[in-house]
Amino acid sequence: MTEKSLKDIQVVTATVVHLKYVDQVNDEIDAASKERGTGIARRTYDYIANKMLEGKAVIALDGDQFAGFCYLESWGHNRFVANSGLIVAKAYRSIGLATEIKRKIFNLSRMKFPDAKIFGLTTGLAVMKINHELGYRPVTFSELTDDEDFWKGCQSCVNYDILQRTNRSKCLCTGMLFDPKWEAKKPVNGNPAPEESQIVKPKRNSLLDVIQKLKPKNGNNQVKESKFNVLMTILSKI
Ligand SMILES: CC(C)(COP(=O)(O)OP(=O)(O)OC[C@H]1O[C@@H](n2cnc3c(N)ncnc32)[C@H](O)[C@@H]1OP(=O)(O)O)[C@@H](O)C(=O)NCCC(=O)NCCS
Repeated sequence: MTEKSLKDIQVVTATVVHLKYVDQVNDEIDAASKERGTGIARRTYDYIANKMLEGKAVIALDGDQFAGFCYLESWGHNRFVANSGLIVAKAYRSIGLATEIKRKIFNLSRMKFPDAKIFGLTTGLAVMKINHELGYRPVTFSELTDDEDFWKGCQSCVNYDILQRTNRSKCLCTGMLFDPKWEAKKPVNGNPAPEESQIVKPKRNSLLDVIQKLKPKNGNNQVKESKFNVLMTILSKI
């Protein structure tokens, strides 16, 4: 098998011309889900096809060869967007393709739903790393959408009983969220700035402040104190 290179792969918003890849996308998602033992249900042909037709999916192609895919879904009256169904074909893994696909679907999500919070659930380290780079932060499930239809998607997962037992407050997946409001405050290299109240500014003392602290504590020691006062007078004139 020849070495794959990211520069040969096109990552684009999927359209009608990509419908011929729908079955392959579904097969790859299905196979990966079985391999990881999550049991996440296969999407229907129509579901994936509609994502392509609505301009809500990103596809990666190496010439005509399918390399990767991801789509977006909006929840809670468009207040939340999830980027789901991320898949990279086996031959194209570990060359940074998922990073490119996620970047593209993240930008597409922000363009289509600029005010929405973008979130995801994952157990995968690769996805956690990519999300972190994009500015997502880990959150408790209480910060995610309460849209019942989103959570119904977990029903086919092998861990669903945990989610039920915890009253939907936790499970094996980590919830990660990006809130566009964070970025509005002060973007730094594409990452949200910390809240103003969280910034701990170092307290800067002047040389005089430091020396003041060295003043002899015993006020009766007049010789030491007068020497100290002379020193302070000299320093204050420098
Ligand atoms: C998970 C998956 C999408 C990663 O795709 P990829 O193109 O190989 O990922 P990238 O090359 O962009 O790697 C991104 C980062 O994750 C790391 N990474 C990739 N695969 C990893 C793995 N299996 N375990 C741990 N880290 C991994 C990379 O080293 C890279 O980290 P870095 O930025 O520190 O170098 C791919 O393995 C896949 O399709 N798996 C099956 C489906 C799946 O798990 N989907 C996610 C559902 S939440």
